[in-house]
Amino acid sequence: MLRSRFLGTGFAVPDRVVSNDELSRLMDTTDEWIRTRTGIHERRWVKEGETGVDLALRATERALEMADMAAGDLDAIVYATSSPDHFAPGNGVYLQRLLGISTIPALDVRAQCSGFVYGLSVADAWIRSQQYRRVLVIGSEIQSTGLDLSTAGRHVAVIFADGAGAVVLGPADDGDGGILAFDLHSEGNYAEKLWVDSPGSMYHPRVSREQIEAGRHFLEMDGREVFRHAVVRMPESVRAVLSATGNAVENLKLLLAHQANLRIAEAMQKDLGLREDQVYNNIMRYGNTTAATIPIALDECVRSGRLQRGDLLVMTAFGSGFMWGSAAVRW
Ligand SMILES: CC(C)(COP(=O)(O)OP(=O)(O)OC[C@H]1O[C@@H](n2cnc3c(N)ncnc32)[C@H](O)[C@@H]1OP(=O)(O)O)[C@@H](O)C(=O)NCCC(=O)NCCS
Repeated sequence: MLRSRFLGTGFAVPDRVVSNDELSRLMDTTDEWIRTRTGIHERRWVKEGETGVDLALRATERALEMADMAAGDLDAIVYATSSPDHFAPGNGVYLQRLLGISTIPALDVRAQCSGFVYGLSVADAWIRSQQYRRVLVIGSEIQSTGLDLSTAGRHVAVIFADGAGAVVLGPADDGDGGILAFDLHSEGNYAEKLWVDSPGSMYHPRVSREQIEAGRHFLEMDGREVFRHAVVRMPESVRAVLSATGNAVENLKLLLAHQANLRIAEAMQKDLGLREDQVYNNIMRYGNTTAATIPIALDECVRSGRLQRGDLLVMTAFGSGFMWGSAAVRW
């Protein structure tokens, strides 16, 4: 059966580094609290005028370079983001415009922290069905412009950050490696546990002065509920996707988990019984970049040699929706 494989990876983060100490000057928090509860030391936030599509373009250029391809070789774009530059149209078409490639399809995926895994599954299905050959998948987010930087928003603001990751997928030649399986889920009962209420088309106007004054345009989260579900759903999904490929946890070379919070990643590592060398975390440096965490970590692992041809890789995510899922890959 035809499989898709990774031809190139890349990532980009803003130059502006925001330390925990900088946040402690804006709100009642401390470097110690943030490090202990989340594992985050610093994160990147955009400067005024820098957009998600700008970061996605830089990430794409790196992925295309690794794949030894030009933008014109792409057949489709799948763009995962929960923080598009505009309400409509989606970011995919803006990236297409910047890349200078006209009329190829550009699909936006809205699956928040799970967006990259969901986006990969779409690209993989397109390639396996031979609808498109070379598909660019993006996970990119600008969260910093939607955070309440007062003490009322500190449980959210210290976690979220900006960044972009890109991968180029294409058909596998050897029939050996490539994407093996997906496990995808959602549970809308918890939609308001991690969400942005407004602007929304159910409101007329879509955002009002009252909503803004009440802070309903900020990302809001019930951290304890998110934590409680994430530490159960991600390990469950990792086991499911491994079992679908006939593999056990011991066969895993590398687990790339969504960088939500280091404590969640550590709880999952313990639950699955994984050694240090089987996991990779970079949340200390980048915070939680939503759909971008996995492709950023993936690119770091590829470029540093952590991931070698033939290795069994699982990527897993959990986030707003709730939506969660995993992908198993023979690298
Ligand atoms: C957000 C999170 C770190 C908060 O940790 P917690 O131990 O659950 O903390 P609580 O929300 O119960 O708050 C404990 C106290 O710390 C305070 N607090 C919250 N954020 C704080 C901050 N940035 N600095 C200092 N104190 C903070 C709270 O106000 C509360 O104070 P109180 O006891 O006086 O009421 C934790 O719930 C978490 O990691 N959740 C998952 C978040 C996540 O991963 N989201 C992304 C998913 S994609």
